Amino acid sequence: MAAKKAKTVYICQNCGYQSPKLMGKCLSCNEWNTMVEELIEAEPAQSRNWRANSGVAPSVASKPLKISEISYKEEHRINTPDGELNRVLGGGIMPGSVVLIGGEPGIGKSTLMLQISLNLPKQNILYISGEESEKQIKVRADRLKEASGTCSILTETNLSAIFRTVESYKPDILIVDSIQTLALPYLESAAGSVSQVRECTAQLIRFAKETHTPIFMVGHITKEGSLAGPKVLEHMVDTVLQFEGDRHMSYRILRTAKNRFGSTSEIGIYEMRSDGLREVTNPSEILISQRDDNLSGITIGTSLEGNRPLLVEIQSLVSASAYGTPQRSCTGFDAKRLNMLLAVLEKRGGFKVSFQDVFLNITGGLKVEDPAIDLAVCMSIISSLEDISIPQNMCFAAEVGLGGEIRAVNRIENRIAEAEKLGFKKIFVSKYNLKGVDKNRYEIKLEAVSKLEDVFEILFKN
Ligand code: TYD
Ligand code: MG
Repeated sequence: MAAKKAKTVYICQNCGYQSPKLMGKCLSCNEWNTMVEELIEAEPAQSRNWRANSGVAPSVASKPLKISEISYKEEHRINTPDGELNRVLGGGIMPGSVVLIGGEPGIGKSTLMLQISLNLPKQNILYISGEESEKQIKVRADRLKEASGTCSILTETNLSAIFRTVESYKPDILIVDSIQTLALPYLESAAGSVSQVRECTAQLIRFAKETHTPIFMVGHITKEGSLAGPKVLEHMVDTVLQFEGDRHMSYRILRTAKNRFGSTSEIGIYEMRSDGLREVTNPSEILISQRDDNLSGITIGTSLEGNRPLLVEIQSLVSASAYGTPQRSCTGFDAKRLNMLLAVLEKRGGFKVSFQDVFLNITGGLKVEDPAIDLAVCMSIISSLEDISIPQNMCFAAEVGLGGEIRAVNRIENRIAEAEKLGFKKIFVSKYNLKGVDKNRYEIKLEAVSKLEDVFEILFKN
């Protein structure tokens, strides 16, 4: 038998760019030191088909179809008991879809996947783990109190062997944790390298499309290290979900980055507890602390996460600075924006904040970039500076401009409706935001303002 000709190429582990020569900087994505030599063995083309690995003949030659000839019926999506997941997927799991779940290590990807597997007892689910042993998974499953069902576990990293199992086992849903641990034996490069990740994904996608089996794949995000970033995969799969959150905080946000079957502005919110992930259906209620007494420096602002309005609590503490340079510190809010708002308050409102330390905190560990909380931030600072509390039944939804003007924000009606739902009695909005808004629809009082002074007038001068 003639010796196989081994071919090596240099592949960028960041974007997948290939080059015959080693380069310090990738020509495609401009990242440094990402080119790694990978050995690619010449192979007969037919073994590239996932079926070839399981001994089934490759499918017959494909023939083009007229678009009018393609019959189509609204496919039956699988509804999971997890409402948050259904929402981010655009209404349940689409048959034959491939979903990639990315996220930093330890954020809870495996927990989410196992929980879904256990909560769908009617479906035959195969959970393939290349990272944990059966025992480890069992221990984790025992921790998940709410999930009571069962699923099958396969600990295997050889994709050809996995396909052989799948061929006889015929699962309804396949879960792969994680794509970076899988390897095809005919590729010489290590598991987790770009060529392995790409080829394994391509075969899994082909499998999903031919058998209509939905697949969930977990993908790691690492800055350095030998694992290939899931960027290469994002183009190939149908849906990309990102699992985000601060490891030290219990909130997790599942965000859609790409979805061929639904909107990308949906988010799902979870809380990580000692017994697993819990859906948070009304996030605002948890983010706003239940307090009895009126403290100064606390206001409620409205922010949008995806399409969902979220009411967030802003706390600030303003105190005379002990040093020449006052301290400014923010958690969950942009420090530059805080400085800008302080300058506006000083110049347009006449408040002496330049010699004060200002500490600002968005509770719940959230990071808010929505400018619609500007007015709430300003009022929280003034409330602390003047030590006058703001009534608990008021909230704010407006941006503040450099001239001290109160600007309109997007989706004002969603924000008003959320505030009303949570029992607020008054919401401050920009005068310019109320065109076309039917005021009589709401029970909550809409306080239309156009300048910062108007707000001071209403809140502090009576
Ligand atoms: P894991 O799902 O292993 O993360 P990933 O697969 O994204 O790397 O979850 C890791 C963290 O979640 C771990 O630090 C412990 C925590 N955790 C809980 O707080 N409660 C639980 O019930 C479980 C299973 C995990
Ligand atoms: Mg994991």
